[in-house]
Amino acid sequence: MTGRDEGTCWGGDTTTLAVTTPAGLEGEARQELRRALRGARFRSLFFKGNLLVSADLPEAEAVASIAEAQTHCVASVTPVQRRAAISSHPDSASAVAEAAAGIGRISPGETFIVRCRRRGKHDWSSRELESAVAARLAAMTGGIGEYEAATDWQVTIQVYQDIAYVGVNRPACLLTRTPLKQRKYRPGERPLNRAQWKLREALATFGIELPPGGRALDLGSAPGGWAAVLAAVAEEVVAVDPAALDPEVAKLPNLRHLRCRAEALAGCREMRGQFDLMTSDVNREPAESAGIMCALAPLLKPGAPAIMTVKYTTRHRQQHEREAREVLSAEYEEIRLRRLPHNARETTAVMRRKRGEGGGAEVLAQDRRGEGSGMSEGERRK
Ligand SMILES: C[S@@+](CC[C@H](N)C(=O)[O-])C[C@H]1O[C@@H](n2cnc3c(N)ncnc32)[C@H](O)[C@@H]1O
Repeated sequence: MTGRDEGTCWGGDTTTLAVTTPAGLEGEARQELRRALRGARFRSLFFKGNLLVSADLPEAEAVASIAEAQTHCVASVTPVQRRAAISSHPDSASAVAEAAAGIGRISPGETFIVRCRRRGKHDWSSRELESAVAARLAAMTGGIGEYEAATDWQVTIQVYQDIAYVGVNRPACLLTRTPLKQRKYRPGERPLNRAQWKLREALATFGIELPPGGRALDLGSAPGGWAAVLAAVAEEVVAVDPAALDPEVAKLPNLRHLRCRAEALAGCREMRGQFDLMTSDVNREPAESAGIMCALAPLLKPGAPAIMTVKYTTRHRQQHEREAREVLSAEYEEIRLRRLPHNARETTAVMRRKRGEGGGAEVLAQDRRGEGSGMSEGERRK
């Protein structure tokens, strides 16, 4: 036997879960898991898209909590009870089978299926390890190894190069779901950044459309995700940021980049009432961002919509939201705050510039319900 059962055995009121996520979204998955599992602790596995999470809850309860939570980045959750050190040598199967048998769940006559997911380089394939472990495990426990699902137990082997985490679970105690977020895109569809999704979600959620010939003002534009989304639907986009735009965005023919701080445009006479939509993703304190939105409100047509991200710069989220709303209410109405799937430590505020005396042009497009407000009825009620 080249492998060694390290004798680790979890269970009882502490659960260890092997969690997979789309590569690159581990950080967001951690946040989701922290929300779903109070006191969740993480161990690094050094393989993209993989996390090991512990929580002081029984297994079934931990998996149920994640199943009930709204996650976007979690692909699979497997309780694991043992860890076995393995090598690239084919005889590693003995160590894994001993670990699985040592969990003590499979009784004589019960059926089980072995599933292996392998990361790293080995001299054996996942299928070879599954077969070898199944044969040894049957001999050790008196259980019956099957090739079809619908067994009493599923033996899961999560291999991370020279360590295997082994779980023996009832199939109902395993969670797999299609993550709503993915990192992989078809050629040419790769977004510039996560920020792009936030704006797409905000436009779709609140039913905001630009009128024909519409002009958009985007504050805090760099590297240009939002500006690129806007350029696809607007006649003209003015992108404001002291930082440089991504070269692909900078060369869009209907985009003008003003390399300055947004505040510099306050009081700009030529731009007064020129814009049909203003967006801001500036990374500033929420009250400060809201102040910039107010200072630049005159550049928007009266009644036109605006979108701003409220960045949580401290843990006092509600206070940030309250302050932003308070400041914005000086120049805007119908202020809605909504946490969208691609919001990280932030939320999205959508509003409309006050019409003021005499009212202004109705610039909001017909929403999907034909209300003509740019925000759906449901959104207006919230
Ligand atoms: C989160 S990034 C914006 C990402 C952008 N929305 C996108 O989709 O690529 C925040 C940007 O705000 C800019 N910023 C911060 N304060 C600003 C200000 N007062 N005026 C204009 N831009 C500002 C920063 O330079 C930074 O590029």
